[in-house]
Amino acid sequence: MIYLDNGSTSFPKAEGMSEFVKKFLDERCFNINRGAYSSSTDTSELVYDTREKAAEFFGGEKGKKVIFTSGVTFSLNLVLNGLLGNGDKAVTTYMEHNAVLRPLSKLTKQGTEVNFVNCDGNGEIDLNDLEEKLRQNPKVCVVTHASNVCGTIMPIKEIGALCRRYGVIFVVDAAQTAGVVDIDMSRDNIDVLCFTGHKGLLGMQGIGGVIFGGDTAEICSPFCYGGTGSFSHTTEMPKILPDKFEAGTLNLPGIASLNYCFDFLKQKGIQNIFAHEKKLQALFEEGVKQLNNVEIIGGKAKNRCAVTSLDFKNVDNGEASFVLDTEYSIMTRSGLHCAPYAHKTLGTFPRGTVRFAFGYKTTEEEVKKAIQAVAKI
Ligand SMILES: Cc1ncc(COP(=O)(O)O)c(C=O)c1O
Repeated sequence: MIYLDNGSTSFPKAEGMSEFVKKFLDERCFNINRGAYSSSTDTSELVYDTREKAAEFFGGEKGKKVIFTSGVTFSLNLVLNGLLGNGDKAVTTYMEHNAVLRPLSKLTKQGTEVNFVNCDGNGEIDLNDLEEKLRQNPKVCVVTHASNVCGTIMPIKEIGALCRRYGVIFVVDAAQTAGVVDIDMSRDNIDVLCFTGHKGLLGMQGIGGVIFGGDTAEICSPFCYGGTGSFSHTTEMPKILPDKFEAGTLNLPGIASLNYCFDFLKQKGIQNIFAHEKKLQALFEEGVKQLNNVEIIGGKAKNRCAVTSLDFKNVDNGEASFVLDTEYSIMTRSGLHCAPYAHKTLGTFPRGTVRFAFGYKTTEEEVKKAIQAVAKI
């Protein structure tokens, strides 16, 4: 079995994470904010500690501005719905995932105007077009840090600087980069960071978060309403953080997994993981460039994460992915990868591509086998 679908979720997960989570489940999986007993306080400390680690990991402001969610999709829904409404303007790019496009589409129906920034055939953003759109007084600019189709990394620091210049709230979808590419909210001028725990962070599915910077948490309305274990005398959501955005019981095992993973990644060094994945991507692309049955899509972008999309010329891409699985035990993903506009931009709509996404445990031998399999197909 060769797993090359790390763009979807990382596999395997961080070594030792499952044991850590099991111990947590076995020994102290009590709810926080609800019990006065001391073991519940221990669990609260773990959650608090995870907020601190997340803030440190992403260069965010300490503590309470870290909100836990079920993943980046929920995070983006929370942030976009909380910040935008009738009469507001938003700016985004043509390289976004449906986790951005669909909330924006719903908001458009409620009176938000959404403007799209052009990207080229390698998925690279047109910064002049962005500036033009930022001049039109939008409230929010939301951009994916890296394309989940072709790996193109957006120049978030420059985009953030432009957003600052025009007083626009800069929201980043870090689904493909958190845990692999160095992100520093302060250095990169990010106002709100949305991340997911189960991809590059090597944690469990069902956990992710939002990190608010500056006064964005105050401006953002709550998205999900319910009990917080605090201010129970009132039927309004609390204004304090993180309670304002965390109604209902949190995914505590997921938070425990993140707690472990932040330490794991710090110890491994994300720059080492990124270098490893990039080396394998280069090896793969060198190999498939020699073949005349496939084209690498968006492969000429200046900066990319280890996500490669191939367009097979002699066979349907869905069928190629199926054959890779059934005949070679190589797991890839075909189709549009929830990013229809990205495929239109890259020229692969509606046929899609076959995506190979390398992970921290992928080996050279596996990559060589993948090249051979592509050649045979
Ligand atoms: C760029 C991007 N944004 C958002 C998502 C949604 O992530 P999740 O399913 O963890 O919410 C993905 C997942 O593939 C993605 O690649």
